[in-house]
Amino acid sequence: MQISPPSYVQHQGLIQWVTSIAEKTKPARVVWCDGSQQEYDRLCEEMVTSGTLKKLNPAKRPNSYLAWSDPSDVARVEDRTYICTDRKEDAGPTNNWIDPPEMRKTLDGLFEGCMQGRTMYVIPFSMGPLGSPIAHIGVEISDSPYVVVNMRMMTRMGRSVYDVLGSYGSFVPCVHTVGMPLVNGQQDVSWPCNSTKYIVHFPETQEIWSYGSGYGGNALLGKKCFALRIASSMGRKQAHGTNPGWFAEHMLILGVQAPWGKKYHVAAAFPSACGKTNFAMLIPPKGLDNSGWKITTIGDDIAWIKPDAQGQLRAINPENGYFGVAPGTNEKTNYNCMASLKENVIFTNVALTDDGDVWWEGMSEAPAHCIDWQGKDWTPEIGKAQGRKAAHPNARFTVASVQNPVIDPEWDNPEGVVIDAFIFGGRRSTTVPLVTEARNWEEGVYMAATMGSETTAAAAGQQGVVRRDPFAMLPFCGYNMADYFAHWLDLGDKLARSGARLPKIFCVNWFRTDEQGKFVWPGFGENARVLKWMLQRIEGKAQGVDHVFGVSPRYEDLDWSGLQFSADQFAKITSIDAQSWKDEFALHAELFEKLSHGLPSVLLSTKSALESRLKQRLAA
Ligand code: OXD
Ligand code: MN
Repeated sequence: MQISPPSYVQHQGLIQWVTSIAEKTKPARVVWCDGSQQEYDRLCEEMVTSGTLKKLNPAKRPNSYLAWSDPSDVARVEDRTYICTDRKEDAGPTNNWIDPPEMRKTLDGLFEGCMQGRTMYVIPFSMGPLGSPIAHIGVEISDSPYVVVNMRMMTRMGRSVYDVLGSYGSFVPCVHTVGMPLVNGQQDVSWPCNSTKYIVHFPETQEIWSYGSGYGGNALLGKKCFALRIASSMGRKQAHGTNPGWFAEHMLILGVQAPWGKKYHVAAAFPSACGKTNFAMLIPPKGLDNSGWKITTIGDDIAWIKPDAQGQLRAINPENGYFGVAPGTNEKTNYNCMASLKENVIFTNVALTDDGDVWWEGMSEAPAHCIDWQGKDWTPEIGKAQGRKAAHPNARFTVASVQNPVIDPEWDNPEGVVIDAFIFGGRRSTTVPLVTEARNWEEGVYMAATMGSETTAAAAGQQGVVRRDPFAMLPFCGYNMADYFAHWLDLGDKLARSGARLPKIFCVNWFRTDEQGKFVWPGFGENARVLKWMLQRIEGKAQGVDHVFGVSPRYEDLDWSGLQFSADQFAKITSIDAQSWKDEFALHAELFEKLSHGLPSVLLSTKSALESRLKQRLAA
């Protein structure tokens, strides 16, 4: 097989690997992607011709495209996602595990000839600013041009990666196929995929193999597969002796300029589709300090966080773009996001309007007619009668970060930014109060470890049930979750011993509902009030009450200027119901039982301490 690498590719190990994958998968041709605009435009044009993309009306949405996936390929497939370590316990009870030799045999069979009749693309990418000490390089081989154009937005992709890689640099090999070879004259379809799907990680050899899906996190392997599953395992492996290692987290990163003249950086973990993008682009309300606040985005989904020589935790966003959930996004819920989406966007599974633009539920008033994400006529009446949405609930946009009008000037800084606070939040209609500050690192790790959330559409499966989602990492931790907790505790311990000041840890819940099931907290921009309290706490300038789980503000401790929100409403979202918390602790016990192998004992002692506080409160 002729693979003809361009002269600027000097890495013999890479060339050999590409050759071996081409020999196995047998594509019709190999294309080495250079990441240029011409290449992007050419691939988009080809996909318009093949029917994968529709070009949107340039007068409405310049340079933008719409893809509709196969109806069976609309979300991450967690039940088909595997962590293959030599020992089952290293993957842990929250991951699917198959013995590596067995999995390799399966993949061998599946990948044999899987790219026949297709083009194999070699996609070099950097997660993180090129050459940053926190960044890492990957190379994805894929037979999907849709993956190439998305990877160009989502990562630093292209020829300059080879300059960093040189002849001997290390990279994470990622192999992806849609799993639909074109053999015996078989015609292509607009969204090729296979009903058999495998998203496989070998953390010990740092490899990713993805078969059968073309969608998002299943196929854009730099994101969840590399930047979270493989990277989380890398960060822990590097911890030994006095080296604390590092964290790869499912966190957005914000810059927060306070009216008192200081700039802060916070990293926040929320499960998928819990308004992370909204929080990452939040506009502080005018009433708040007239708004002397300015919030800027460093990242919307993933943070890589490493201690620097002074023991400060520095974070980068390893990604270069946003792959966000479209439904529910509008000028009110996320003005900056809508502004980011004016041009140069790839939309997936939203509806096509009659004037060649896009629409999704919650964007604006429904159009009188459009074509839904499955290519069918849709009107509000049809939608209502058939319970059919115009856009799939997990419909997405892909857009480069630089289009965000509130991108932080430091977002591309190879050194990263110093994190002042971690925030953990789930979607809970009951139980968890608006905001709680952990009294120490261990208590913060406990809060994050026991986080729960009502499930959403980002992953295939049941929706609306509470599942434990420790650190919002349940589907993304590339190793044993109990070891992951231990890594958080150890890293904190090592930094504290070295005299470093650790970030404060907070837990939030924007989603408490009233008796009618309505959200009580207005959320969105108003979340800045909670941020203000947190930053004042960091400065030792805000009050709070010490309670069962940590420290929370009283009504009078938050700044309400410009917002009508009564003390009664506040009580509804901050009350701690002793019986619900007893039930909640039973669920924590269930989680710890499941993770008992290697569970740090400090989490059990923290649980006992919190429970006895609850008992005292009941007795009082
Ligand atoms: C995402 C997710 O796409 O978490 O970011 O599912
Ligand atoms: Mn995510």
